[in-house]
Amino acid sequence: MGGGALLGSSMLPRIGLIEEAFGEEFPRPDYMIRAGWNENPWGPSRVALQAIVDSIKMSNLYGGNRRALTDLMGTIHNLPTDHISIGTGSGEILRTAGMLASVDKGSVVCADPTYHDLIRYAETAGSKIIRVPVNPETLHVDLNAMHKAIRKDTKCVYIANPNNPIPSIIEKNALREFTLDVSKDRMVFIDEAYFEFVDNPDYESLMDLVRDGHKNIVVARTASKIHGLAGMRIGFGFAHPELTGQINDAKTGAINVLGLNAAYASYQDQDFQEFTVRRNKESLSIVETMLDELGHRYVKSNANFSFIYTGRDINEVNQAFKAENILVGRPFPPMTDWVRVSMAKPHEMEYFAQVYRKILG
Ligand SMILES: Cc1ncc(COP(=O)(O)O)c(C=O)c1O
Repeated sequence: MGGGALLGSSMLPRIGLIEEAFGEEFPRPDYMIRAGWNENPWGPSRVALQAIVDSIKMSNLYGGNRRALTDLMGTIHNLPTDHISIGTGSGEILRTAGMLASVDKGSVVCADPTYHDLIRYAETAGSKIIRVPVNPETLHVDLNAMHKAIRKDTKCVYIANPNNPIPSIIEKNALREFTLDVSKDRMVFIDEAYFEFVDNPDYESLMDLVRDGHKNIVVARTASKIHGLAGMRIGFGFAHPELTGQINDAKTGAINVLGLNAAYASYQDQDFQEFTVRRNKESLSIVETMLDELGHRYVKSNANFSFIYTGRDINEVNQAFKAENILVGRPFPPMTDWVRVSMAKPHEMEYFAQVYRKILG
């Protein structure tokens, strides 16, 4: 037991202070560490917070200056503004695309497991969902198998790159070739929610295909992850104007002035994005070093979360971590003996590593 025990629990300083004071052993924090939702533990940035405060007095208004944010995104991505759709989170863009793809029923092809928003919505709207298992060895999205799974009636192929809950990426040339080919006859939806975290020479955004005028390709991004604005609900779809037009007509959400102005400020704050990436790498390094030391199986992360094989039922693992004040990810069928762990702050991940060794080491 570390020196924290000497203080008595009512006098314990918060975990960050304990780290400095007592070195190796970390007492349980007096709050729940959120490692279950792939949120940004640092955000919103100071400039975004200031924008939110400054915008509160505009809360009597419907909407806000959507034009300013669209223009800014156009400048950042070198795209005309008619190629940009703003959603209440990228989730709204995903769900709307899933619904549009299901108007004439048909099928949607996706990896398994992957992020659920587009898929679930398409299924509810009447599409047959064709789930293509990831490669059992590497756990990478299996593009060849996905290609084979595409049917005549397939209206959409959904790809999260990086994927979620598995933080893998798809090799850039293979994905580009696949997307150009498959999008000739149907929508290809590339979800780049974790784009900003990737530091991998094999990775590339497909935003340039939208810029080049390809008609059936949607690229989605979000302010929820690197910008720490998940609660403000701002995300983006980038596509040919015919497609953004359809998406805009079908969306049902309403963006609010706080989210708009927070995102407008945050997307201009490069320092905060760099800071988040740096600290995320520190957290990942703590977790991955621990897993390497234990020789445990996990997927090297290209995002802000880790996916770890536990060999135990996820509900049991969830409860064990919860008892130690850590909330880890929910079950991701069919991989229910794996756990997804989102990166909290580095000192919190030191505590996580200590608890992990105790529970699963
Ligand atoms: C791959 C992926 N896409 C999209 C989203 C949706 O994010 P939001 O609706 O907050 O933009 C998430 C959220 O976790 C995600 O993991």
